[in-house]
Amino acid sequence: MDLWQLSDLSTPWALRVASTLRVADHLAEGPSEVGELARATGCDPAYLHRTLTHLAARGVFEEPEPGTFALNDTARGLLDESLRLSLDLDGVGGRLAGAWAAFLPAVRSGEPAYRELYGRPFWDDLEAHPELGASFDALMGPVGHGEFDPEILPGGDWDGVAEVVDVGGGTGAALAAILRARPGVKGTLVELPATAARAAESFAAAGLSVTVVGGSFYDPLPAGKDVYLVRKVLNDLPDREALALLRRCAQAAGASGRVVVVGSVALGPVTGAGLTPELVLLGGMERTLEEFRALAGQAGLAVSATSRESSGRSVVECRAA
Ligand SMILES: C[S@@+](CC[C@H](N)C(=O)[O-])C[C@H]1O[C@@H](n2cnc3c(N)ncnc32)[C@H](O)[C@@H]1O
Repeated sequence: MDLWQLSDLSTPWALRVASTLRVADHLAEGPSEVGELARATGCDPAYLHRTLTHLAARGVFEEPEPGTFALNDTARGLLDESLRLSLDLDGVGGRLAGAWAAFLPAVRSGEPAYRELYGRPFWDDLEAHPELGASFDALMGPVGHGEFDPEILPGGDWDGVAEVVDVGGGTGAALAAILRARPGVKGTLVELPATAARAAESFAAAGLSVTVVGGSFYDPLPAGKDVYLVRKVLNDLPDREALALLRRCAQAAGASGRVVVVGSVALGPVTGAGLTPELVLLGGMERTLEEFRALAGQAGLAVSATSRESSGRSVVECRAA
């Protein structure tokens, strides 16, 4: 194994630069000469040439003749909107990429890198910079986005479910999918104020009637509802914050409600070897079922069922212990 190659940062950055410049879009109609590409993307031809030659040598783009570039199957992947959003250096992708500069202090201190570098925790930073927040929300998927599985309850057990609260529900795409699949169910979304405002607009545009609460899920949640959905949130949180959120869910769910945690608990071994962006940047982590049980237990919750979304994401249902 070549340590120079392993430690080389040029490929990850070149990919982000090419994605941010939308080079793949400019090649969608066919091959193009680099001077033309530089004009179309508004950048320096010599730098762009070296960037694309580097990527072509690593299998992204083809250079059918010197100085002319074309898409190949790998480069076509750069046309994918969610990949584009996560690589875009002008959006939240740039903020996240830059946060790796504080990886060493994070490992030394055990504190998330993001706050170290940008002076605020990730979510506060998104609230403070609406354009970054909007870019993150787009990455999570807008209402109407096709990929959300409405079957979030293990065993499809919707008997007696009249109201669902989506806690940290982003722009509400998952909740919208649930409400469309079960028109009799009422929905509430709890989100930070800027995202909540975007969610309210999306629900209205989609013709869905949803109660949107702009606030923090560390404050008391709307109480007495049937299901509290916590989807792709707990894996972003360190133990102390995850426990605080689970306590709020447990208080609100009371004796009869359910707390359904999606996409944060490894039902098998922890995936991704544990060095995830969530850990390095935010201090959050995927937990094993045993680790989650211990945390949920401290919040007064017991795991009552587990299953998987059709995407393969884990679903863990909890009730009052
Ligand atoms: C990774 S996203 C998941 C969004 C959505 N649940 C989904 O499945 O796509 C995490 C969400 O938690 C929200 N969030 C973070 N801290 C929060 C807080 N203190 N109160 C409410 N929402 C919060 C963020 O705004 C973000 O939309």
